[in-house]
Amino acid sequence: MECATFAGKNGGQFGNLHAKPTAIMFRIICLWLCAISAIWAATPAEIEKTIDGLLARMTLQEKLGQMSQNAMTGLSSELKEEIRRGRWGSLFNGGTLAEKAEAQQLARSGKPGIPLIFGQDVIHGYKIIVPIPLGQAASWNPELIRQAARMAAREAAADGIHWTFAPMMDIARDPRWGRIAESLGEDPYLAGELAMAMVRGFQGESLSAPDSIAACAKHYVGYGAAEAGRDYNSTWIPETVLRNIYLEPFRMARESGVATFMSAFNSLNGIPASGNEFTLREVLRREWGFDGFVVSDYTSIPEMIQHGFAANPKDAARKGIESGVDMEMVSTSYYDSGPALVASKQLDPKLIDQSVRNILRVKLRLGLFEDRPVPPPPPDAEARSVAQRLAAESLVLLKNEGNILPLTAKSGRVAVIGPMADSPDNQVGTWAMNAAGNVVTPLAALRERLGADRVVWIPGLRDTRDRTRSGFETALQAARSADVSLLFLGEDASLSGEAASRAYLDLPGAQEDLVDEVAKAGTPMVVVFLAGRPLTFHSVSEKARAVLWAWHPGTMGGAAIADALLGTISPSGKLPVSFPRTLGQVPIYYNHLNTGRPPGDDKYTSKYLDVPVTPEYPFGYGLSYTKFTYANPKLSAAQVKLGGSFTFSAEVSNTGGRDADEIAQLYVRDLVASEARPVRELKGFRRLHLKAGETQTVEFTVKTGELAFYKGARRVTEPGTFQAWIGPDSTAGVQVQFEIVP
Ligand code: BGC
Repeated sequence: MECATFAGKNGGQFGNLHAKPTAIMFRIICLWLCAISAIWAATPAEIEKTIDGLLARMTLQEKLGQMSQNAMTGLSSELKEEIRRGRWGSLFNGGTLAEKAEAQQLARSGKPGIPLIFGQDVIHGYKIIVPIPLGQAASWNPELIRQAARMAAREAAADGIHWTFAPMMDIARDPRWGRIAESLGEDPYLAGELAMAMVRGFQGESLSAPDSIAACAKHYVGYGAAEAGRDYNSTWIPETVLRNIYLEPFRMARESGVATFMSAFNSLNGIPASGNEFTLREVLRREWGFDGFVVSDYTSIPEMIQHGFAANPKDAARKGIESGVDMEMVSTSYYDSGPALVASKQLDPKLIDQSVRNILRVKLRLGLFEDRPVPPPPPDAEARSVAQRLAAESLVLLKNEGNILPLTAKSGRVAVIGPMADSPDNQVGTWAMNAAGNVVTPLAALRERLGADRVVWIPGLRDTRDRTRSGFETALQAARSADVSLLFLGEDASLSGEAASRAYLDLPGAQEDLVDEVAKAGTPMVVVFLAGRPLTFHSVSEKARAVLWAWHPGTMGGAAIADALLGTISPSGKLPVSFPRTLGQVPIYYNHLNTGRPPGDDKYTSKYLDVPVTPEYPFGYGLSYTKFTYANPKLSAAQVKLGGSFTFSAEVSNTGGRDADEIAQLYVRDLVASEARPVRELKGFRRLHLKAGETQTVEFTVKTGELAFYKGARRVTEPGTFQAWIGPDSTAGVQVQFEIVP
């Protein structure tokens, strides 16, 4: 039984929202039959057969409709008519649940009767917002990140959404680029592991489960390398770097079964990513065997004209389809030019069939042809609990002089100052368009925990961009009246994300001046940053006794921050990206190559005259309220045969006074290779929980194949000498040396 075809023809009855009892019975029986046939038809061969049947009865224009996606703003009569005749394969970022249900019913009862796939940017939570992806990456906790994505999927599915444009796994080495907030940092292995966790969370056990949504690996590829950190800018990436760094998280996401990819806006080595046969056909399809579909980024198909790569929309459509972009987002070049391209034999219609096949395959895998029930959303408390745990684990303690944190009952009165202390919209960060209210701000959480009479609150500035100083005097008075000043600084949500690149990395507005003013009180200062990117804030941290980095922490961020400040939890996050001392060091990243003249005392070495070469805070860095030491490195064998594996262990001790988490990191360096290799590369990590005084052995087993690297298109593992570290960040650790032998 071909449920898909059957449902397509009878979609009206399946989708009727106001069905009579007999129809309901009929529906239940059909559902049951569909469920059975879905199991039976779920074999790849059956899916392909169903697609054959669908393709056979579709016109060219209907096929091009499947390859077209539009934004959904309500359900006008014009849109209804278009849906009925199969004008769109997908709608996104809008529509109520009822509108989506109606649209789906129209799609299924019309001709060609193919269900729509509803997409949405579900980037870091849906209703309950979890930290921005860069913040999540600071938790180094794939399981918790998976849970957060699962929660977001359940919330989104309850709103009729089938597909999210996430995770974004663009490697970002430049904090000027606003979309670094949406990234998983600078390291391909960490980003890949976390992207895989997100894919597992969004897609669940099976794509056809009602609360699963298809994930989308974006932006393929190189987008994060935008020249000068300016969004949408060109990228130039040699193949070695492309494969070892930028493609790697995508390869890993592909392995975790991500259903779709999104082609990026940027040009890559002169070829736009949305018309790039090399990355899309050669790498993604041929090498990686990807059989889902690729959607273009927003109007990136006709943007190939501005790139100087396509002459007109028709040419852009041909290049997009030929390079393997199956669905066009928003713009209409495919739909408008497809028929003429085919008629003039400029485009092989088989390519259109292939793209439609890829799209239908995902629709079938999602079970959209059946009556996919809309699941209930997860309980609010459950979603909030995941959001709070993730916000807590993403907090990075950068400085804690004299252990001023955590504050104790003896800390007395607290002055809460700064534009980010009570700014719900800014706290949730970029891409939070469906955010529910009831954001817990740091101010609210501190008042609740300390009692309102112990908290004096003066914003000082209206928002982080404010340059007026009229609130400074009262802020200073507040600091004078308190035993400790808590300053909440950073960046508004609109200062990071898409089209939000900055040419300065210092604190916007008059925030530094506010710090100077408050410092005059002589009251100890603790600074908490809520921001979407690494910033340069050296002079602020010099004046502060403690610095806590909270990213844009989401709905429950304030609760997590208050818990950390008051010591209910210990900060345990580690930086997923290097923090520069100054903009002039950018790009700065830990897994760089050595030079022939590494920085040293001699003048003629690779360094600056005016600033050290090291970052302000390195990749992997983060303090705790307790202290961890690493000792006793042990290697299973000093020599490992090519193809074999080795185990490297070390003892991690909590030598401080309280229980806490530590993220142990494994780094490797290939000392001599046929192409120079990075000074360190992350190869493993583990979040440990250690009681005060406890020692645990952390152990990593690594196959020699995991030390492979790409030389051009070839992935090779070369025999030779390697160095390995297990440690608390990318600059420290206990060390061993070993050899890989043929
Ligand atoms: C962004 C994508 C996003 C899409 C749809 C584009 O402008 O680059 O990341 O998924 O819009 O909203």
